[in-house]
Amino acid sequence: MWITRVTRQIEQLAVKSRLVYAAVSLYYREMVRREAELAAIGPEDRVLCIGGGICPYTAILLHELTGAAVTVIDNDRGCVEQCCRFLTRLGLAGIGVHWADGAAVDYRDYTVIHLAMQVCPREEVLSRVLTHAPQGTRVLVRVPKGCVQGLYCPSSSGQLVGESRVQHSVLSNVDYTSILVVPKLPGRLAV
Ligand SMILES: C[S@@+](CC[C@H](N)C(=O)[O-])C[C@H]1O[C@@H](n2cnc3c(N)ncnc32)[C@H](O)[C@@H]1O
Repeated sequence: MWITRVTRQIEQLAVKSRLVYAAVSLYYREMVRREAELAAIGPEDRVLCIGGGICPYTAILLHELTGAAVTVIDNDRGCVEQCCRFLTRLGLAGIGVHWADGAAVDYRDYTVIHLAMQVCPREEVLSRVLTHAPQGTRVLVRVPKGCVQGLYCPSSSGQLVGESRVQHSVLSNVDYTSILVVPKLPGRLAV
């Protein structure tokens, strides 16, 4: 997808230049702060970020702002290798990074799961999370603004009905982040 290629190019620059890293970080900081508040993330939480990219801003900021333990996965091996090298250079090797698809992970270790906006297929990954993560896991999902929706993975319903949501800046591609709480499913043991 076009937007994924552009984001990757920006993230390539960000891992090479402190200035670019700091500038792009400004785009994410307030958004991630609102998301952390929405999910009431604290140091006791274990967060899984699905779709970290080369430069996992969301994971880094969630860790810095809340003290939570954060793990990142991405289904692109090249991104994962670059991301590991970058985090080691930053002294943040404590943020685990793994090559995995968001729809095929064991979610049992996590209390919060965050889906990046470029995760694809979003509905499949989200549905898998909601049916396989432990009951009570908080799930944060970013939803693009209507005018840029075509740049992201298609979804059958533009709107996402969560428990509640936070609205983001007019300058952001992200319209809002919804929080969903994994329900107790019939036929599934409570975990
Ligand atoms: C470019 S990043 C954007 C995230 C951004 N760096 C952040 O910190 O929020 C989006 C990443 O999601 C990954 N991705 C897309 N679909 C995925 C899936 N189903 N499972 C895991 N990673 C996925 C892509 O490979 C890409 O690297």
